Amino acid sequence: MENDILRIILDEDTLKKRVKELGKKISEDFRDEFPVIICILRGGVIFFSDLIKEIDTHVEIDFLSLSSYGKSTNSSGVVKIRKDIDTNIENRHVIVVEDIVDSGLTLKYIFEYLQKHNPASLNICTLLDKPDAHKTDLEMNYVGFNVGNEFVVGYGLDYAEKYRNLPFIGILKKEIYT
Ligand code: IMP
Ligand code: MG
Repeated sequence: MENDILRIILDEDTLKKRVKELGKKISEDFRDEFPVIICILRGGVIFFSDLIKEIDTHVEIDFLSLSSYGKSTNSSGVVKIRKDIDTNIENRHVIVVEDIVDSGLTLKYIFEYLQKHNPASLNICTLLDKPDAHKTDLEMNYVGFNVGNEFVVGYGLDYAEKYRNLPFIGILKKEIYT
């Protein structure tokens, strides 16, 4: 599995340190607000699990699953809900936890969908952001790291459902996905 990786861009220690910082910031921003933290499956799951352990105020957790782009490494913008949240988020502070924002089309869909439930506030926390790839002007409240326009895997992020279990984030060798 590791032989398919061209280069590690974020190692375990770097990820851990940044996740801790984000957890601390979220704890301060939502102290005593009992926010609902929504993990976007499946890519967000490792980041989400590590992040909530770094939050030292009460949170409720929930999960939202969307259709993926299949094996393609490009965003089609076509998304469908596979598993909805079970929590009533009306008048609640909501934090959406995503693995990566590429075109931003997935998150835009999620944002508009959740906004219809009238949350008290709707916040976005993404581990990775590809600012040069944005096709929409969504504002993110918490960003772990900016990355370039390369395809990355690991720490939850997949290519064709593989590599999610790598403990670091790396760039996949081009020959793997072309
Ligand atoms: P967007 O709709 O173009 O912003 O794409 C977001 C989704 O595409 C993410 O939630 C990922 O599932 C997937 N994605 C985008 N870029 C990458 C990448 O570099 N590696 C793995 N998955 C990615
Ligand atoms: Mg995803």
